[in-house]
Amino acid sequence: MNTEIIKIDPNDIDASLIDRAAEVIRRGGLVVFPTETVYGLGANTFAPEAVAKIYAAKGRPADNPLISHICSIEQVDLLAREVPAAAYRLMERFWGGPLTIILKRKASVPDIVSAGLDTVSIRMPSHSVAYELIRRSGVPIAAPSANLSGSPSPTTARHAAADMTGRADMIIDGGDSLIGVESTVVDLTGLSPVILRPGAVTAEDIASVTGSCAYGGDYANAPKCPGMKYTHYSPRADVWAVNDISNIKNDENSVILTYGENMGGGAFYAGKTVEDYAAKLFYFLRRADEEGYKTVYARLPDETGIGIAVRNRLLKSAGGKVI
Ligand code: TXA
Ligand code: MG
Repeated sequence: MNTEIIKIDPNDIDASLIDRAAEVIRRGGLVVFPTETVYGLGANTFAPEAVAKIYAAKGRPADNPLISHICSIEQVDLLAREVPAAAYRLMERFWGGPLTIILKRKASVPDIVSAGLDTVSIRMPSHSVAYELIRRSGVPIAAPSANLSGSPSPTTARHAAADMTGRADMIIDGGDSLIGVESTVVDLTGLSPVILRPGAVTAEDIASVTGSCAYGGDYANAPKCPGMKYTHYSPRADVWAVNDISNIKNDENSVILTYGENMGGGAFYAGKTVEDYAAKLFYFLRRADEEGYKTVYARLPDETGIGIAVRNRLLKSAGGKVI
C-alpha cells in the first residue's frame, strides 16, 4: 500500500489538507493522526471492513476492543445506550482531553469495534488536528495507538511512520504528542468508576467529580481492559525499571532514561518533571533501539499524578523487572 505523509500545523490547520484526510476516513481508509496522548491509527467506527483493516495493520488480537474518538458530547448518543449523570460530569470536566469512558454500547456499534463486548469506549481528544479530522469526517473514528502490536506507542510522526508506512493510507504529521502516555480508561458501567488503564487523568481527579474512583483491571488479577493482558510497550532492548537511578553505571551497550536531576554521560534526559518524562518515555524506548542499545535502565517514578501511568507502562515494558 502506498502511504501518503502530509504535514499539518496544529496552530494553523490547512483546511484543504485535513479535508483530504477526512475523505480517506469516509471512503473506508486508514489515517494515522496526532493526538495529545499518542498517535492513533483511525478508521470510520461504523464501517466494519475499515475497522478490520486496523486489526490487520497492527497485528492486533481480535479480542482487544478499540476506542471511538468523537468531537462533541452529543456524539456519545451515536455509540452509548446508557449514559449515567456521572459520565456527563466527567465529559464536561475532562473533554477534550486524555480520558476514555466505557459505557454500555448501542447495538449499532459494529461488533468488531467492541471486540464482542457489550460496552463501547469513547474519548474526545483535545488535539486540534484530531478534533478537525473527526469533525470533517462526520463520523466517530475508531483508533488504537498507531504502533505495531506490542511496540511502544508512537509519540512522533516519524515513529508512527516507522510502524505504519505501507499499512495506512495516510499519515498526518502534526508534531509531537505532548502528554506521551495513552489516555486514562475509566469504566462507568458499574456502581462506581473503575480505572482500567492509568493515564494523565488520575483516580483522584475523577473522584473529585464523581465522589469515588478506584484503580482496577490491570491492578487486579483478571484484566477487564483486554489490551492490558498482552505484552506491551516493548522495544527490542532489555528494559529494567530502576528505583535509585543514581546508582546505575551504564556502558556502551546500555543507556539510562531519566528525569529530575540530569546525570549527563549520554543518559537520555527528559527534563525536570515527571510530566516531561511521560512525554518522552516511549520516544526514548524507540530511540534506544534506533541507536542499537541492548539494555535500557529507566528511572521508576513515584506513584503519584501521571507517575502512576508512567510506572504502569515502564513496568510493562520491563516485564516487571525492577532494580
Ligand atoms: O490515548 C489513547 O487512548 C490512544 C489515542 C490514539 O487516543 N489510544 C489508545 O488505544 O491507546 P489502544 O487501542 O492502544 O488502547 C485502548 C485500551 C486497550 O487496552 C483496550 O483493551 C481498552 O483500551 N479498551 C477499549 N475498549 C474497551 C472496552 N469496551 N472495555 C474495556 N477495555 C477497552
Ligand atoms: Mg495501544
